[in-house]
Amino acid sequence: MEKKQCREVVSLFFVVMIFVFITTGEAQAQPFLINCGGNSTVSIDGRKWIGDLAPNNNLTLSSTVMAATASSLSGDSIYEPIYKSARVFTDGLNYTVEVIPGNYIVRLHFCPFTFDNMNINDSSFGVVANGLKLLTQLSVPGEIAHKNLYLQSSGGNGSSFSLIKEYVLGINLDVLVIELIPSEGSFGFVNAIEIVPVGDRLFADAIRRVGGNDMNLNLSGQGIETMYRLNVGGPEIKPNQDSDLWRMWEVDSSYMITANAGVEIRNSSNITYASMNDSSLAPLLVYETARSMSNTEVLEKRFNMSWKFEVHPDFDYLVRLHFCELVYDSAKDRIFRIYINNRTAANTFDVYVKAGGKNRAYHQDYFDAVSSKTDTLWIQLGPDTAAGASGTDALLNGLEIFKLSRNGNLAYVEKYDSSGNSVGHSKSWILWVVTGAGIASVAILAVAFTLVFYICKNQGEKTIDMKNNSTGWRLLFLHRGIVNSSANAKGMGSQNLNGSTASTRSGKRFTLAEIRAATNNFDESLVIGVGGFGKVYKGEIEDGSLAAIKRANPQSEQGLAEFETEIEMLSKLRHRHLVSLIGFCEEQDEMILVYEYMANGTLRSHLFGSDRPPLTWKQRLDVCIGAARGLHYLHTGAERGIIHRDVKTTNILLDENFVAKMSDFGLSKTGPSMEHTHVSTAVKGSFGYLDPEYFRRQHLTEKSDVYSFGVVLFEVICARAVINPTLPKDQINLAEWAMKWQRQRSLQTIIDPRLKGNYSPESLEKFGEIAEKCLVDEGKNRPTMGEVLWHLEYVLQLHEAWMHAIDRENSFSSSQDLWELVVEDTDIKNGKEITSLE
Ligand SMILES: *[C@@H]1O[C@H](CO)[C@@H](O)[C@H](O)[C@H]1NC(C)=O
Repeated sequence: MEKKQCREVVSLFFVVMIFVFITTGEAQAQPFLINCGGNSTVSIDGRKWIGDLAPNNNLTLSSTVMAATASSLSGDSIYEPIYKSARVFTDGLNYTVEVIPGNYIVRLHFCPFTFDNMNINDSSFGVVANGLKLLTQLSVPGEIAHKNLYLQSSGGNGSSFSLIKEYVLGINLDVLVIELIPSEGSFGFVNAIEIVPVGDRLFADAIRRVGGNDMNLNLSGQGIETMYRLNVGGPEIKPNQDSDLWRMWEVDSSYMITANAGVEIRNSSNITYASMNDSSLAPLLVYETARSMSNTEVLEKRFNMSWKFEVHPDFDYLVRLHFCELVYDSAKDRIFRIYINNRTAANTFDVYVKAGGKNRAYHQDYFDAVSSKTDTLWIQLGPDTAAGASGTDALLNGLEIFKLSRNGNLAYVEKYDSSGNSVGHSKSWILWVVTGAGIASVAILAVAFTLVFYICKNQGEKTIDMKNNSTGWRLLFLHRGIVNSSANAKGMGSQNLNGSTASTRSGKRFTLAEIRAATNNFDESLVIGVGGFGKVYKGEIEDGSLAAIKRANPQSEQGLAEFETEIEMLSKLRHRHLVSLIGFCEEQDEMILVYEYMANGTLRSHLFGSDRPPLTWKQRLDVCIGAARGLHYLHTGAERGIIHRDVKTTNILLDENFVAKMSDFGLSKTGPSMEHTHVSTAVKGSFGYLDPEYFRRQHLTEKSDVYSFGVVLFEVICARAVINPTLPKDQINLAEWAMKWQRQRSLQTIIDPRLKGNYSPESLEKFGEIAEKCLVDEGKNRPTMGEVLWHLEYVLQLHEAWMHAIDRENSFSSSQDLWELVVEDTDIKNGKEITSLE
């Protein structure tokens, strides 16, 4: 397209990037639903979504930004009609709504489009509501890739998803300004916004602090993010099955540690709310189903029903438990304890007593802080043996976890958390919409609108298309302009989302002097690695944090090419399980890259050849899952997948918390595009990990990485080099040797002896099967990384259940058979003495 034409289009339609609309009439406490980019009002089950482009809509539209619309989306989401359009913004976009001060649920809907040229995977943006930071550097597809893509059963184009973020905001002004701000050099999109008044209905009661006193929640000027909302023991409850609040209630089983610790019970007869004030907290449907403890055929049940949730460290959480006694007709039939993060939140909990009878819906709120050191929240219900109940059994009907704002912030960016404690965003709010082939058509009109703009904008600003061949690494950072911060509407505080974390994203430019200072003038004693490109130094940058500083050797031409690839890849990719780039230095012919420092070095150094303590089986599984996630993101997160091409245990790095990150993108290639099913290049990679099919046919696909990853899995089990020429002939190549044992289903004979007795045999068996599948001869018969990831998660569950069972046995024997234990202990001691005497 001609540049000139483009300019015209731009000037005609998309001039000012601030968008305000104000309700005319009196402000009323009524739901206000915005169908972003829509030119008409859409009604879904009686709720009216006002198109922000619609004529005569009682809204004043001062100006407009890009609207993306789509003609059809075949899917089963109830929100389908409002997902047909979106707003796409490359600059700040504000929605301003007059409101009556009070509490509001605000939901943001993101249903990504798949574009041909504009890659929604590259979107990154933040959201601020009345000065409260809700989201920073949100990458919707990245968020999905991080945790949830493996839910997709068949892969490919068969399904899509949407992300719904839900907040409760205590608005103390008569206006709500929602600012959407793209990250530096990026863009964002939004499909719909819900603003639903809730008054004092949701958080009116006193909250019990775990291990402390009751407290009250003052929401004014504060915010809450819904992290999880589960209908325990029952089916999913869709938004239109809830009240006017339209909440979604997810199934709980996937959060349970041992799913068969709890059985589902159901009783839909005449449930009533214990207090009428509770009627908007949850629909009665939630109370009709529950989970109670499995009947273990023993007198006393001695285990917990446990749920585990990933949460964001360094925030406070409100845990709301919903109860309704469905079975027993009197008090003391079911008495239990509630634990939150291993601490007792309640003793002698008797739902019958608390709720005032059977079939009475009741809830209890708890408050707990999660430190910067944890990213999990455990909820456990178990017997209270001291209570003298006739039955030790627990019950739970529903569960919600809310995150409370701290210092005007609710946002959490996992990618830049230097402590490594970061986690993914809550799984519950990703709603899967199976759309068949429909997703393609969603984009058609959207493309028509947005591409015009985007291409024009790119031409105007000399943005470099990083998917095409690089124009040289020096230019890569030049296009990152300064984002125009959005205007302060009505004097509302607008927070700069592009603070330190944003500069991490774009890469800070270091001076050579700073690099010299950081590395003690390239002190050899600080060298932590050497590659084709040059050396890697451990250094301390000015803010005091540690960094890995990679200095290119100017002599090496090949190194230079790989260097460029790596910058290109890393400036485009952001993921918890990929090593991230902090900045670069380009001065006096020096080409230096600065990465986050990975305190625990390579995975290989923890397996063999060093004096580091061995990793446990669980740690090994966690590392494999992390690495698989990183690779899965590479393969599927970008528009065209990226093939790592050099997957090996020295390219899997571990941070101080043993979070695994893929590194070394020097050999990476973007994967096949639509027209080509493979990338044909000179064979590169590392001996011992190399896909034989790739070697034979020189055709590179994602499945070559899967092969190499399979070798990594065997290396993790056996803790030996992939090629060891000093061994007998049949053992030299690990892949061949391990496969020989795997085919006989006797991997345990060659397992790292340091793991013996400390792994669940069932998990090893499954693990071996995954590795075997990865090494299948023909690439097309190998699993995808998404499938590998899914199976590894399952292996971890098997192992955790096994560990849990062992813990249980131990606690059982310790409390019950103290005397026996003492005797046993003496026996062991005697045994030891005897051995030592021999
Ligand atoms: C249940 O969980 C709590 C908290 O983690 C723990 O202290 C307790 O020992 C567990 N009870 C059983 C029977 O496993």
